[in-house]
Amino acid sequence: MSWKSRQCAISVSRGERPWWAGWLCVGLVVVALAGRRVDGAETGDNGELTPPARQGSARQDSTQINSVFDTVSPPADSIRDLFYLVTAITGVILLLVGGMLIYCIIRFRQRKSDRGEPPQLYGSQPIELAWTVAPLLTVFVLLMVVIRTVADTRRPEIKKDAEPVRVRVIGHRWWWEYQYPDYPGLTTANELHVPGSAKDRPRPVHLELESADVVHSYWVPRLAGKTDLIPGHKNMMWFQTEQEGVYRGQCAEYCGTQHANMLIRVVVDSPDTFKTWAAHQAAPQQVDPQFAAGLKVFMERTCVNCHAIRGTEAKGTVGPDLTHLATRKTLAAGAIDNTPEKLAGWLRDPQTDKPGCDMPSLRLTEKEIQDLVGFLGSLD
Ligand code: CUA
Repeated sequence: MSWKSRQCAISVSRGERPWWAGWLCVGLVVVALAGRRVDGAETGDNGELTPPARQGSARQDSTQINSVFDTVSPPADSIRDLFYLVTAITGVILLLVGGMLIYCIIRFRQRKSDRGEPPQLYGSQPIELAWTVAPLLTVFVLLMVVIRTVADTRRPEIKKDAEPVRVRVIGHRWWWEYQYPDYPGLTTANELHVPGSAKDRPRPVHLELESADVVHSYWVPRLAGKTDLIPGHKNMMWFQTEQEGVYRGQCAEYCGTQHANMLIRVVVDSPDTFKTWAAHQAAPQQVDPQFAAGLKVFMERTCVNCHAIRGTEAKGTVGPDLTHLATRKTLAAGAIDNTPEKLAGWLRDPQTDKPGCDMPSLRLTEKEIQDLVGFLGSLD
């Protein structure tokens, strides 16, 4: 095929593409984008991280929505500010480039009277300088603010009068273990209690993150950014807030079947409430003899192999420490509320509420379940 005839073939095949093909592509993109919006509206996608729960449930008791824009802690503030800045800069670039593109497409489109190629321009120093220097400066500014934000989120400003609270967080499939090195014996699960700060008395919370199995990620959007929990490696993160309340979070790194039910509740108490809470949680469990039958089931039906209750013979470390279990609002890392009915359902078959979790159905009798529910409900 000669050069001439090949050119001719190309122009014929171009000519065969129907005129509406381009518009069809644009239409498909618009429909896809619109569909996404409708999806979001239907699933109540308002920035909440936990699935919409039943009315009055502990999972909903915090009216605060887990929005990354509604921040109350310095690391989360600096991430939000970085987001706004980067969006503004890239938004201006988008408008500039997009605007020039649209202008050129319209202003310099091919007209009937046009003959041959337009004048070709080579080696224009001003243009080459402009498209080298402008992106360089932009990237440099972005780099600097990112480095600053990373530094902000990694280490707290150590103020003279700060009274830090240290917590060791261990990620498990699929729950969180919390140990408080400053309160010997204090081990709890899933619900993190910390003191709030005051202007004259900052209480930064330092989290030491570790994992017992796979990679997890600790994320409470209103308090701080995500930080991974990596097996065999210690990571640090921190937050600090003056606003008391319950903050919800979520494991943010896919870690297996029940990743979505690896929920976090951070309870920010007043310093006094926290002190009382910590002293109470660190103390061993007082077992009411009235619930001896339940304790017996606990010891004999293998619960004891995985769970600890400080103050009893139970010292298992595979599952969550159940000392003072009744003081927690939720069970199974936030998957269900801590009520007698839900607890009974959980003991009957954990695989119904949390399929794939390590706790098997122990085929307990209804009598054993009722004894256990009474006993566990008494662990306040
Ligand atoms: Cu743990 Cu996802």
